[in-house]
Amino acid sequence: MKSIVILISGRGSNMQALLESKLSARVSAVISNNPHAAGLKIAKKYNIETCVVDHRMCTDRVAFDLLLANKIDSYQPCLVVLAGFMRVLGDSFINKYIGKLINVHPSLLPAFPGLETHKKALERGVKLHGCTVHFVTREVDHGPIILQAVVPVLPGDTIKILAERVLLQEHRILPEAVNLFMDGRLKISGNIVEICQKDSDN
Ligand code: GAR
Repeated sequence: MKSIVILISGRGSNMQALLESKLSARVSAVISNNPHAAGLKIAKKYNIETCVVDHRMCTDRVAFDLLLANKIDSYQPCLVVLAGFMRVLGDSFINKYIGKLINVHPSLLPAFPGLETHKKALERGVKLHGCTVHFVTREVDHGPIILQAVVPVLPGDTIKILAERVLLQEHRILPEAVNLFMDGRLKISGNIVEICQKDSDN
């Protein structure tokens, strides 16, 4: 079975959603840039190999990216999944994995790239918010969109309430996007991702 590597930085709930899903791939490792990431403990409970590439131990971004890429390559994954990975990756790293690197982001891109997406959504007064799974390209949070899920923004919502509502959807669309990729159903043309039918649907 083909394998994927998951990169995390913290809590690891998206990673857990992947581990609990019926995936068309084996998770060969979970790698964190943060030795204290809670997700590492969760991965161990699921008997998944874990590994830390601590950015603070590297002289610069290029050195970190190189170390990270070497570690990833040792597992020979078909796909690398950023599941709450909070480091910006350099151009060479992204070029190396282009088309094989996906990210989950807590907003309906292209709205609200970057951090504090739920705060921005509440401040902007949007009525609909959500999350996006996209291919990673050199421009942060701008790559071709694979899947999105929409949630309402309701009167009285706080950042925490809204974040929880969005997170539930992240846990649904990230595994779905991984399976679409693994099943060869994603065709990228420029900025557009076409979702092809299953062979059995033809
Ligand atoms: C998730 O909401 C994810 O979308 C976000 O960080 C959170 C990680 O939670 N990622 C980004 O903001 C990346 N730009 P998790 O560790 O529980 O999966």
